[in-house]
Amino acid sequence: MATYIVMLGPPGVGKGTQAKILAEKTGLVHVSSGDLFRDNIKNQTELGRVAQSYMNKGELVPDDVTIAMIRERLSRSDCQAGVILDGFPRTPKQADSLEQMLAEFGSEVNYVPFVNADEEVLVERLSGRWTCRANGHVFHATFNPPKETGVCDLDGSELYQRDDDKVETVKNRIQVYRKQTAPLIEYYREVGKLVEINGAQPIEKVTAELVKALEK
Ligand code: AP5
Repeated sequence: MATYIVMLGPPGVGKGTQAKILAEKTGLVHVSSGDLFRDNIKNQTELGRVAQSYMNKGELVPDDVTIAMIRERLSRSDCQAGVILDGFPRTPKQADSLEQMLAEFGSEVNYVPFVNADEEVLVERLSGRWTCRANGHVFHATFNPPKETGVCDLDGSELYQRDDDKVETVKNRIQVYRKQTAPLIEYYREVGKLVEINGAQPIEKVTAELVKALEK
């Protein structure tokens, strides 16, 4: 049976960083809603145009658009063994839709690592983040610096700072998270799927805690 892991946590806590590491360790596919939106923006699609207007303000893209995008992605053949979802679901409606989608595939969400850290940690991580233009590889000026400033270690492409990592937008993203996404913590706790992970530790320690929790 396929395995579905949902990475839950506030903006900048390290969901994407850990999802990529876990995907390599497990062979599961990493599906990031934010990366899918950014690909659409890069390719100048209609979906990208709609998404950008919300992302620039730090608001959530409407549920219907987001759910349709994820449904399409999860239906592809590379997702059959399961997926590590990063950034989805983010509202109760998205969580309900995910449950329905997975039920159609004869599956369900298995684990929900909730990675958390204080707001000052999130702001520090987002303000120092550098992302690779070609493939979305992520670095941090202090905590995970590239070998050469401004250049991706993995594919040599340019590193840039995301528009929504400006301090004002980050503050709004954190507010939006608290209002619209935080209710999912209780939702998944009640069904016994939540695993709490201390995201304030260095990257390798967070990975070690995650791996240990998932092995149980
Ligand atoms: P999205 O791209 O999903 O952004 P996010 O959830 O805000 O998460 P981030 O990507 O900012 O952070 P992260 O937790 O992955 O941290 P990372 O690993 O990069 O969404 C962007 C926007 O798209 C949303 O605002 C919304 O508009 C839209 N959207 C997306 N999904 C949606 C949905 N489902 N519904 C509606 N709208 C949606 O790490 C951050 C930095 O910290 C990096 O520099 C990294 O190197 C560093 N770092 C990571 N871990 C550590 C550590 N342990 N110690 C030190 N540094 C670390």
